[in-house]
Amino acid sequence: MEKTLSIIKPDGVERKLVGEVVKRFEGAGIRVAAMKMVHLTSEQAKLFYAVHRERPFYESLTDFMSSGPIVAMVLEGDDVIQKNRDIMGATNYKEAAPGTIRHDFATDIEKNVVHGSDAPETAKMEIAFFFNSLEIC
Ligand code: CMP
Repeated sequence: MEKTLSIIKPDGVERKLVGEVVKRFEGAGIRVAAMKMVHLTSEQAKLFYAVHRERPFYESLTDFMSSGPIVAMVLEGDDVIQKNRDIMGATNYKEAAPGTIRHDFATDIEKNVVHGSDAPETAKMEIAFFFNSLEIC
């Protein structure tokens, strides 16, 4: 069984989309194996998104990600990294397919409601950023 990290970003939590997002994952047969709400500091957000530190949107993204609580989840299932990405839709909501979370709810390329790991190695690192092994059921 594969695992991936999903984050409901501050815009998703603020807009009360937690239930809707979880419903879409569970409706697709994905199991939630861990879940917590956290409010990242700016330093923690910078660490989490360190891979993007040279990008022009890094400051703005990390300010946004530390602007309010987020919900971090470990999702489990067959091919769950790709399945999660399909359910989220393209990063840019204008390019996201109808029926995807970002198409249906995102308002901005940055405020795009959800984050999901993009590959097995990233998933491992991103899960370990938020959860220890005792917290994953
Ligand atoms: P996420 O999947 O969390 O990964 C990096 C985030 O950077 C992305 O979603 C967006 O929220 C944000 N972002 C802001 N501007 C851009 C951009 N031009 N291209 C890609 N990601 C961007």
